Amino acid sequence: MQLFKAVVTALALCTAFATQARTLDEVKKGGKILVATEGQFAPFNYFKGTKLTGFEVEVAELVAKKMGLAIEWKTLGFDALLTGLGQNRWDVVIASHGVTEERAKAVTFTAPHYCSGGMIIALDPAIKSAKDLAGKVVAVQTGTSYLENVQKLSTIKEMKNFPTDVDARSALSSRRVDAWVTDRFVAKEVVEKNPGAGLKLGEMLFIERIAAAVAKDNSSLAAAWNKALGEVMADGSYATVSKKYFKEDVRCPN
Ligand code: ARG
Repeated sequence: MQLFKAVVTALALCTAFATQARTLDEVKKGGKILVATEGQFAPFNYFKGTKLTGFEVEVAELVAKKMGLAIEWKTLGFDALLTGLGQNRWDVVIASHGVTEERAKAVTFTAPHYCSGGMIIALDPAIKSAKDLAGKVVAVQTGTSYLENVQKLSTIKEMKNFPTDVDARSALSSRRVDAWVTDRFVAKEVVEKNPGAGLKLGEMLFIERIAAAVAKDNSSLAAAWNKALGEVMADGSYATVSKKYFKEDVRCPN
């Protein structure tokens, strides 16, 4: 019994330590911050050949530099990103997550690095607004706020979800679905880069603030990130990167 108790206590301690997020000081001591993203959501986080790049990848690099840290990037499926924070597998997630109440129960969001929202895209120019989705099949990426918001539309015929946003887009291009809901800047870029594809931008379904996240209540790290983000927003470097990708400044208005 005594031994059993000791083993249980040891196990409990191990789990407690293993799942404890690294504080700012611990990250600084290591010199490297582990940042996870998806890498399949252009122009925000994607691979150009073998190089991970994109608007928020570059913003994260600016922020980390201000914090005096180098980033070690991890890329994996969108669905696993926030969960990994709770398991202390990485320090930060930056993958265009909209700040939602539900997610905020599990993780701590930093200050937003851009403002956007879900937009409807279709091949049929008559599909523009939420009401035009009545009786239609709509594609979204699994685990996203697009899924959450499309689910609320009671008149649609069916919602199909896909592991990546790229898959959701392909489903539209190959006419397996009638519409696709994705980020407005993703949508704009896809339409601009594929002028012959017949894709039509519809209306925005909802708006959201997009932020990075740290493990729940890792406040020292969140505070340092927010301070550094504030600095890159003030010194012009954020604006330069934003204009490079979008020809406009995409920061949230306040
Ligand atoms: N903004 C949406 C959300 O909050 C989609 C994010 C998708 N990100 C990605 N890396 N695929 O869920």
